[in-house]
Amino acid sequence: MTSLLQRRVSELGPWFHNLRLRDQVEEVQTAPLHPLGDFPANFWQFFKQAVPDDLHGLSVLDIGCNAGFYSFEMKRRGASRVLGVDHDPAYLTQARFAAEQLGLDVEFVRGDVYDIDRLVGTESFDFVVFMGVLYHLRHPLYALEKVARLVRGRLLFQTMERGSWDITDFADDLPFDERDVFFDERFPRMYFIEHRYAGDKTNWWIPNPACTRALLRTCNLSVLDHPCQEVYVCEPTPITGAT
Ligand SMILES: C[S@@+](CC[C@H](N)C(=O)[O-])C[C@H]1O[C@@H](n2cnc3c(N)ncnc32)[C@H](O)[C@@H]1O
Repeated sequence: MTSLLQRRVSELGPWFHNLRLRDQVEEVQTAPLHPLGDFPANFWQFFKQAVPDDLHGLSVLDIGCNAGFYSFEMKRRGASRVLGVDHDPAYLTQARFAAEQLGLDVEFVRGDVYDIDRLVGTESFDFVVFMGVLYHLRHPLYALEKVARLVRGRLLFQTMERGSWDITDFADDLPFDERDVFFDERFPRMYFIEHRYAGDKTNWWIPNPACTRALLRTCNLSVLDHPCQEVYVCEPTPITGAT
């Protein structure tokens, strides 16, 4: 017989986050047949050590929070305030339901990353999570600039990446007739997805790793840690002596 919890989880689906929810009777997984496996718990294993164990007293903003997996992990580490933002009301309904089931005090608010500054006002955050969103944006640099301005402490960032994994330095400026460099796969590149990638028409821009780092630098973010492919822990680059 289908339990009440199982029925509610099905009604709220489909889920992108496989969360483990439980009532008095049983544990229910929200996306047990996820094509990526036990996602994102299986991915989190590769970089959770890059997030401090103890977030007591710290504020967290999770942009593109989906059903709240990372918001919940941050709350479990003791963060005093966790705010999850997503533009999709269906995911927010899942997130609020999961928070209630898990007994975790996380606030979920509907909002768009392009308007994130207006949504949070003058607040900045000790920890900002911006995972799995950049490549879904038509205007990624515009959004990343806004996100970067909200980071008081650290940014946990992930983007899909494709192309060469090699990184090298290039001159800050190049002559107009330099063309060969654009054939070098290590040069920062963003692949533009006109139609679909992996069947998903919301995939727009996929950087190579050199481009990810260049985008982060351009938004005044320094990479502190790169615990696994596609994941970066960053902090605001200190502004050095004005000239
Ligand atoms: C691939 S999922 C990533 C979810 C989660 N952050 C993770 O890493 O597992 C992308 C999420 O970003 C949200 N999203 C996409 N574009 C957005 C936008 N412009 N503003 C806010 N959320 C957005 C989607 O609704 C979705 O929940």
